[in-house]
Amino acid sequence: MNTILIGSQWGDEGKGKIIDVLTTDADIVVRSQGGNNAGHTIVSGKKKYILHLIPSGILRSGKICVIGNGVVIDPIALVQEIEGLRTQGIKVNKNLLISESAHLVMPYHRALDEAREQMKGKNKIGTTKRGIGPAYGDKAARVGMRLADLMRPEVFEKKLRLRIKENNLVLKSFNEKSLSFSKVLKEYQEAASLLKPFVINTVAYLHEAIAKKKNILFEGAQGTFLDLDHGTYPFVTSSNTTSGGACTGSGVPPNSIDSVVGVLKAYTTRVGEGPLPTENTTIGTMLHEMGREFGSTTGRARRCGWFDSVATRYATMVNGVDRLAITNVDGLDELKEISICVGYKIDGRGKIITIPPLDAEELARCTPVYKTMPGWMVSTSNCKNYKDLPLNARRYLDAIAQLTGAKLWIVSVGPGRDQTLWLK
Ligand code: GDP
Ligand code: IMO
Ligand code: MG
Repeated sequence: MNTILIGSQWGDEGKGKIIDVLTTDADIVVRSQGGNNAGHTIVSGKKKYILHLIPSGILRSGKICVIGNGVVIDPIALVQEIEGLRTQGIKVNKNLLISESAHLVMPYHRALDEAREQMKGKNKIGTTKRGIGPAYGDKAARVGMRLADLMRPEVFEKKLRLRIKENNLVLKSFNEKSLSFSKVLKEYQEAASLLKPFVINTVAYLHEAIAKKKNILFEGAQGTFLDLDHGTYPFVTSSNTTSGGACTGSGVPPNSIDSVVGVLKAYTTRVGEGPLPTENTTIGTMLHEMGREFGSTTGRARRCGWFDSVATRYATMVNGVDRLAITNVDGLDELKEISICVGYKIDGRGKIITIPPLDAEELARCTPVYKTMPGWMVSTSNCKNYKDLPLNARRYLDAIAQLTGAKLWIVSVGPGRDQTLWLK
């Protein structure tokens, strides 16, 4: 059984937690897109782990984690992440495989990400400044460098010299400091020797695993509305975060996929700029006062709002979602009344629309049409079975699953592994 798990909103839906739970039934967990802009949190007992590049299956022994060809890798950050996990007692050894075709994030990508954001001023995207956009830009422009290049010292040195020369000219035009070829070369050579044992042809590996009927879980990063093609362009990331990205980013064809799981929060959050129709400061303040909804990668406070079923239904369509995992239900425990967005009106007038305009400016003009439901006003975080949830919570979950258009499968009522409720 091969399953793709994606975020059906704007990222941070709780993908890391759900992947960690589902890994018990998987043999292999694969990341196929994005880079260390992702921050996936897993809470195991009293310990908290935040993963950026390494798949969230790494905490479970006996599982293989694969970083696929579609991921952009900052080798220095990856080495730090491996070392950080080892310090926390997690084995990272033969259980991690990295694609030789994955592109490298270079120091000039990070510098350009920052410089472009600064130049945009109030029109900035609010990126994580990890160099993701420029790295994918170089990939598309066919001037990127890959892990395979990094593994061949003479090739890497030759390519790096040219890339630094060109990018220093660009950085100069932004009035930014130029980069030292020898310093970058040394840092990347050190990382290369540490990463070498992990680097293979992951496409061939995954196809062998499929032939052996292994169970593969594909871990999406970011969320549907941050997708380069289907999100709120230009306020998006630079990869395909939707289910198709799992195939191109791993070399596993669509006819090897059995199921697509969409992860949703019981409300909406977004970090960074761009339209968010249901944004609501009251719910934001409530969640922030509970100490929740601060970014796992940058620490920024996430923008918060009511559940937006116009968005999640669109995500079901684009990704082919058949089952849902709804997380953070406990975040709504204190509310007397809960709103659900069931449609938009443009500029608050005219007919109700139920397909989100993907043009960011048009989406920014949308005002939500809400339906309200009574809250449950008791804690759900100790519930162990779906039927333990208060009736109003079950009604709310049924309503949002129905509006989203897929089968409710998993409900999460806390960050811990045992705070996970299953439906048949
Ligand atoms: P991801 O990027 O989709 O993996 O999500 P993040 O890890 O960035 O953000 C999700 C946050 O919600 C993390 O802090 C998780 O530990 C936390 N989380 C996940 N599910 C639940 C839940 O059901 N309840 C609570 N309270 N926290 C949760
Ligand atoms: P996970 O996998 C939430 C957002 C940034 C910014 C936009 C572009 O943890 O859900 P980038 O650095 O990718 O060029 O930034 O995308 N963004 C995320 N938001 N969760 C993420 O990952 C994100 N990765 C990028 O905040 O708005
Ligand atoms: Mg996250």
